[in-house]
Amino acid sequence: MFDGHYVEWRLKRVRALVENYGADWFRGRRVLELACGYGDIGASLWTLGADVTFLEGRAEHIDVLRKRMPMLPSNRTIVGNMEDGLKGVGLADSYDLIIHFGVLYHLQDWKTSLNDCLSMSRFLALETEVCDSDDPDFEFQRTETGYDQAVSGVGTRPSADRIEREIREGGMILSRVSDNRCNANIHVYDWPVMNTGEIAHGRRRMWFCGQDRVAP
Ligand SMILES: C[S@@+](CC[C@H](N)C(=O)[O-])C[C@H]1O[C@@H](n2cnc3c(N)ncnc32)[C@H](O)[C@@H]1O
Repeated sequence: MFDGHYVEWRLKRVRALVENYGADWFRGRRVLELACGYGDIGASLWTLGADVTFLEGRAEHIDVLRKRMPMLPSNRTIVGNMEDGLKGVGLADSYDLIIHFGVLYHLQDWKTSLNDCLSMSRFLALETEVCDSDDPDFEFQRTETGYDQAVSGVGTRPSADRIEREIREGGMILSRVSDNRCNANIHVYDWPVMNTGEIAHGRRRMWFCGQDRVAP
């Protein structure tokens, strides 16, 4: 699990994170990785000195993470459903950076967790599959199953513009990654919108967001 197509894709996204914030910035920073799977992305930042908290909706994934990183205190590895909001699951009140990768489209109520993130972090790195539309009101839902899909069984594909509207209304500024730095096998970020309103597996967008700037 979290193997195959994940490997190159994850490496490229970690590299984009390190390029945006700078390797030295991570030392001592409080970082929250949401929907972490086995925690590989957060583990990379942990090696740079970040104080990483991992949250994941499936207990079996957190079990693997705890076996891989037994040195982590138990309050840094949290099982929690993002659909229930991020308050009250044992997280800190604030973080320097929240990593919200590969999960927004697996949420039925993506706005709740996104708005929690906007209020509890200085910086937010966000990445998700989106639908082919630039309508700032467009989104639709669909059922899904699988070890890395929606815990609730229902995900949402908003347009990138719909997500950007939510980020701006929540009080952060944003910078969209519109080049190919994270393109990896099926995952593509520099595709042109054709306004078909459809989804194609691997059509994604990524943003660096922040309270008053998008990088330190
Ligand atoms: C596509 S994988 C992405 C894994 C990793 N974040 C990445 O980007 O490489 C989606 C992850 O989100 C988790 N997930 C799905 N719905 C969730 C929810 N409601 N709350 C927390 N985690 C959820 C899945 O169990 C899975 O680990």
